[in-house]
Amino acid sequence: MKAIIPVAGHGTRFLPVTKVVPKEMLPIGSRPALELIVEEAKSAGADEIVMVISKGKELIREYFKDDPAVSFVYQHEQKGLGHAVLQAAPAFAGGTGNVLVLLGDALVAGGNASRELAAVSRSNGGAAVVGLERVPREKVSRYGIVAMEESGRITGMVEKPAPENAPSDLAVAGRYLLDVAIFDFLAGQRAGLGGEIQLTDAIARMIAEKPLYGCVYRGRRQDIGNPQGYFKALEAFGENR
Ligand code: UTP
Repeated sequence: MKAIIPVAGHGTRFLPVTKVVPKEMLPIGSRPALELIVEEAKSAGADEIVMVISKGKELIREYFKDDPAVSFVYQHEQKGLGHAVLQAAPAFAGGTGNVLVLLGDALVAGGNASRELAAVSRSNGGAAVVGLERVPREKVSRYGIVAMEESGRITGMVEKPAPENAPSDLAVAGRYLLDVAIFDFLAGQRAGLGGEIQLTDAIARMIAEKPLYGCVYRGRRQDIGNPQGYFKALEAFGENR
């Protein structure tokens, strides 16, 4: 299995340190957060990892240069998460099966979320799976929210809905196991919310053609894209140690 870790974002919520240090390289103890994500991917079965980086974030390339499993592609303009994932498409040309996508600024403390997604996929005939967490109703407008059947099958997905329009309190949470057909959907994806090419929008279109399941993973997702989330991640990983 191959994995993609998009790490090309501007990191504006964590300025000024992100002028020189990518948020994904902030330390959790003695190791950068991104190394914990690489380990999660590998222990979930990823043997090749494509990192999507941008100019100015070469520190990431430098850190992982001796890891033969890791390769790099550039996203030259920050047009959103979907666009970042699309930059890795050449590494999957002609391929079949699923690709694991892990957000470079989402750490999961407690268990291996990617491995849990892979298990849900196996018990549903190799179907695509998206990682989910429950969020308070009043906060749904910060997340991608899904509609999910009792069977775990996902029937709809909407990016940052108003609470009254949200189909559930289940938020897309930084880990995806997607059919490689996602690249075709991303290639034709128009800009959505915020003028960005949203991964959620492409997945929502793909649901009509390919089954997608949800996995509420055990661990807690920490968004290290802002100082508050980073402090929480330090606490969570400190406790697990
Ligand atoms: P975020 O939206 O949290 O990252 O994307 P950002 O754009 O860096 O954040 P702010 O708003 O400026 O603070 C989640 C992940 O997707 C990557 C980011 O690097 C992060 O790991 N990303 C996001 C890209 O690679 N490219 C993009 O165009 C956007």
